[in-house]
Amino acid sequence: MTTTEQHYIQLLKETLIDKDNAVRYQLTPLAPGQGSFLKRMVINLLINTLSKKNLIITGINKNGLKQREIGLGWPINGYTMIGLKRLNNIQFCIEEVIKNKVEGDFIETGVWRGGACIFAKALFEIYNENRKVWVADSFKGLPKPNTTLYPEDEGDDLYSLEQLRISKEQVMNNFKRFDLLDDNVKFLEGWFKDTLPTAPIEKLAIVRLDGDMYESTMDGLNHLYHKLSSGGFIIIDDYGVIPACKKAVHDFRDEHGITEEIKNIDGSGYFWQKNF
Ligand SMILES: C[S@@+](CC[C@H](N)C(=O)[O-])C[C@H]1O[C@@H](n2cnc3c(N)ncnc32)[C@H](O)[C@@H]1O
Repeated sequence: MTTTEQHYIQLLKETLIDKDNAVRYQLTPLAPGQGSFLKRMVINLLINTLSKKNLIITGINKNGLKQREIGLGWPINGYTMIGLKRLNNIQFCIEEVIKNKVEGDFIETGVWRGGACIFAKALFEIYNENRKVWVADSFKGLPKPNTTLYPEDEGDDLYSLEQLRISKEQVMNNFKRFDLLDDNVKFLEGWFKDTLPTAPIEKLAIVRLDGDMYESTMDGLNHLYHKLSSGGFIIIDDYGVIPACKKAVHDFRDEHGITEEIKNIDGSGYFWQKNF
């Protein structure tokens, strides 16, 4: 990578996480596993009621920059909530698969405003790699828990959060904003259980699961892991913070005898490399 390209990538990361506004924060809903049930219910209800009127609660947070580094909280204007370290991890995985000639595309299941996919696409452009970026989302937020099939999602209220409903048009516009929308960016619109089983994906080099719930994580694992090339990477964004997501990972690994070491990125995101 040339120095100019390095500067572009650095600036892109900082823009995607909204580094300049890091000290401004918006009160962010609590995920299942964060805080007591009562605290989570009250905070999430307040945030949701306000956001239906296009209002957010903001403040100044002197630790904001640190939080953007590890993807804590949601940026007001950023394009991704995953933070700098998890963007660095995407870069590491992409550079490794290129170096090791591991074949396949990049997919993220659960994209919000699209920033992580925009970043992957920028790297493929820089490295002149003709690989696709698959952008999978309902583009209308999370599903209601299906507790008959997935009791682990009992009490998960993320589906009610307005701020997680980002339309496909908005995500496409975000790609355009960086001049990165072309035929190699493929949108899979709908619930993962409906789109992933029939998605016309041949091989994957990097699978990034960011659907938060047990069901959404398990759908990604069930329908995508067998397409991941040897030497490719699987990243689980919420492994360290949402117990139901972590359980889906271990249920799947146990069922399929997967023993590759799971590595910590920043306390929330974890990943492993599929054996060569
Ligand atoms: C936490 S956000 C993803 C954050 C994003 N990766 C980023 O870089 O900021 C979770 C996303 O997953 C999507 N989602 C979760 N479960 C889903 C499912 N079962 N089917 C489709 N979309 C789902 C939601 O619509 C939401 O956009």
